[in-house]
Amino acid sequence: MAEAHKAVSGTWATRWTFILAATGSAVGLGNIWKFPYITGEYGGGAFVLVYLACIAVVGIPIMMSEVLIGRHARRNPINAMGDLAVESGSTRAWSLVGWMGVLAGFLILSFYSVIAGWALNYTADIGMGLFNGVNAEQTGKMFGDLTSNPGRLIFWHSLFMILTAIIIARGIHKGLENSVRIMMPALFVLLLVMVGYSVTSTDKFGEGLQFLFAFDFSKLTGEAILVAMGHAFFTLSLGMGAIMTYGAYMPKQASIGGTVLTIAVLDTLVALVAGMAIFPIVFANGLEAGAGPGLLFVSLPQAFGSMAGGQIFGTIFFLLVSIAALSSAISLIEPAVAYIVQQHNVSRLTATICFSLIVWLLGLGTVFSFNIWSEVKLFDKNFFDLLDFLTANIMLPLGGLLISIFAGWILKRSVVLNELAMQNLVRFNTWRAAARVFSPLAVLVIFVTTLYKAFS
Ligand code: PHE
Ligand code: NA
Repeated sequence: MAEAHKAVSGTWATRWTFILAATGSAVGLGNIWKFPYITGEYGGGAFVLVYLACIAVVGIPIMMSEVLIGRHARRNPINAMGDLAVESGSTRAWSLVGWMGVLAGFLILSFYSVIAGWALNYTADIGMGLFNGVNAEQTGKMFGDLTSNPGRLIFWHSLFMILTAIIIARGIHKGLENSVRIMMPALFVLLLVMVGYSVTSTDKFGEGLQFLFAFDFSKLTGEAILVAMGHAFFTLSLGMGAIMTYGAYMPKQASIGGTVLTIAVLDTLVALVAGMAIFPIVFANGLEAGAGPGLLFVSLPQAFGSMAGGQIFGTIFFLLVSIAALSSAISLIEPAVAYIVQQHNVSRLTATICFSLIVWLLGLGTVFSFNIWSEVKLFDKNFFDLLDFLTANIMLPLGGLLISIFAGWILKRSVVLNELAMQNLVRFNTWRAAARVFSPLAVLVIFVTTLYKAFS
């Protein structure tokens, strides 16, 4: 039963490669598109605070667990969890956590690709000057024209899936490093330029800051807390094996704690800066903070349309957003590809083509949820809302909870101590207390109270 599974061959040359790959996975649409719009929907301040607390108490310890499991096993998440469980005297059923992760990755990528398609569409449209001089009403109409047109959405969704498939099929080492090393800092600089625009050209920067950081706890519903926690998992790429898959290639001598902290801080910074760029523009133009998934696409283009050099800045901005989405997309499907290739000797190309087709097909559900299926609802949610809720708020936290319990209770203390290589025992014991008790408990309490409220 406990046959040994093939381990990955080779590790990445330096700690930096892992940081770049994991940052590439973490920083994406979650930061620039999703964080601002859900923050807007759930009323700002208090929501942001819960999100930040979840990053610290739940996200960082669980990310350490994922990396250490991946690096210790040096194989894909399904085999990593199964083999390490058996080695530790537990059951191979732990591999189900890996399977759930593969499923979550497919589901997330199916809608992620549609939204990334929007970014590609905006790259082209702003590049052609379609947004020059537009006001907020016009950007709203142009966004509506895009989302109400299934053919256009399918075109850009298909293009994004093809790009993802090409990178996956060639193996993710090549190309990824440079794109992250050069493009991510460029994206960050452009976000800062937009913050600069918001400070100088709108008189709403203070209002934007206040919305993000003034804690009004009266707006904090149970659902808001669940969504804030879910987003902490989503934005750090946790709970589905992406980080575990990359961890399998991390060199032994690199420090897991320091590396994980770096990634979490970078990811959080990008989200907060995106919020500081977007909300002042939202308020200055009388847009609705709770406008939903279109928030990014109706706010920034208005600013690009009116600022000097906006056509160039806007084109580059959405191009960089697309590339950031691409480096996240490949991490959503890589666990499945790694499993099939390592375990069943299927070629990377075959695996990539099959999986991409499945994801592409699923994505049509999201495409239609913005037009012909917009009134098809379950629990008051359309297809896209349901997928998003199920993955980010249920599957990822559940996966993370199980991963944390696995690292805290199933793996031997000595194994983990050795893997984390922490000289400082206080730090080690803090991580272990979080992994065993605090992180799982936080997830459980939030799950139980929200579900209890939903059904009572
Ligand atoms: N973290 C990515 C983002 O913020 C999304 C993602 C989620 C990627 C889960 C991989 C796994 O855009
Ligand atoms: Na993110």
